[in-house]
Amino acid sequence: MSQHDAIEVISVKRDGGTLSDSQIDWVVDAYTRGGVADEQMSALAMAILLNGMDRREISRWTAAMIASGERMDFSSLSRPTADKHSTGGVGDKITLPLAPLVAACGVAVPQLSGRGLGHTGGTLDKLEAIPGWRATLSNEEMLAQLESVGAVICAAGDGLAPADKKLYALRDVTGTVEAIPLIASSIMSKKIAEGTGALVLDVKVGSGAFMKDLGDARELAETMVALGTDAGVRTVALLTDMATPLGRTAGNAIEVAESVEVLAGGGPADVVELTVALAREMLAGAGITDIDPADRLRDGSAMDVWRRMISAQGGDPDAELPVARESHVVPAPATGVLTRLDAMSVGLAAWRLGAGRARKEDPVQAGAGVVWHARPGDAVTAGQPLFTLLTDTPERFERALASLEGGYDVAAAGTQYEPGSIVIDRIG
Ligand code: URA
Repeated sequence: MSQHDAIEVISVKRDGGTLSDSQIDWVVDAYTRGGVADEQMSALAMAILLNGMDRREISRWTAAMIASGERMDFSSLSRPTADKHSTGGVGDKITLPLAPLVAACGVAVPQLSGRGLGHTGGTLDKLEAIPGWRATLSNEEMLAQLESVGAVICAAGDGLAPADKKLYALRDVTGTVEAIPLIASSIMSKKIAEGTGALVLDVKVGSGAFMKDLGDARELAETMVALGTDAGVRTVALLTDMATPLGRTAGNAIEVAESVEVLAGGGPADVVELTVALAREMLAGAGITDIDPADRLRDGSAMDVWRRMISAQGGDPDAELPVARESHVVPAPATGVLTRLDAMSVGLAAWRLGAGRARKEDPVQAGAGVVWHARPGDAVTAGQPLFTLLTDTPERFERALASLEGGYDVAAAGTQYEPGSIVIDRIG
């Protein structure tokens, strides 16, 4: 006889109580092994979404998810490690220039990444646009590449926090993704199990993010920073704007191309600003304060690491990137100043064009996506291209155009536009 049962645990949370350590350990372990049914775990996840968890419960839940699988160990590496995690946004290609940049400054970056689901893109989908590149590495290959190149971006192995893999898939189909205790424990269980020494969290706020509201984003960031710190990982969070999409592209191959521009010392100013801000935090977490990462973008050393990182995973950094078969231009409706570009509208359009997937098993189109030719604050002339939509399957244009409707404003010429800062706050 086990010491607990699922109905007892669900009832405690349903009635607004707090779960004991042993109830949490039991339910996470039993669910991972198949002893608690999906319908029971979904009832518990909904009770958690509605009634919350206190700090001790979240910390114990995270520990139980870590204990469901293996822990990686990078202590044999000759350099310190640092990683970053973004809660997900539109046009968020920052990991691509960031990992090689931080490695070029002497810190090893073990970046376990995911695929896109819904309107936010996935780092692995973007990199898979590079001919030959592979996302799956064994733990030994990952360690060897970290030592030789300094940066790895790859898929998390099945052994890491299996409880989270199962629970995340369940939350995705039961309307229980948006629970702060569950998001925080999901992200942090993987990052702590991964074994990084320092962690920088990029918590997105705004229409294109999970957290639309600054108060919720702050609570999520504070919860994750406390979890990381308690587990001995030097953790800070930046709250960053996701009301406007990042850069000028949302898709797969087109985001790789934009990242390469940043590594070549160019690229959109907001992508460069956020990449450098996150790099500074990662370096500080790893104890390096005398190197300015902006110099390593300018002098080409970040680009050198990028090329070696892509080659080490079978990719050809010089290969032509796939190009979508069809394109459709949306002209600016009036002459004036672009004053709003809504991240959610752009993300949905890119997704509908085939850059993202509706179900986990779906393939993505490497060439699909949206390019915007102006950012808020830019002057536009009636009839000039405002967006270029890209896809292999032109029947998708109509629904993508529908998602852009109402997603941008052009105000009269001369209208003053005050750009907000990308980094809204720092926690930790
Ligand atoms: N990303 C994760 O890994 N887990 C969540 O719950 C939400 C975003």
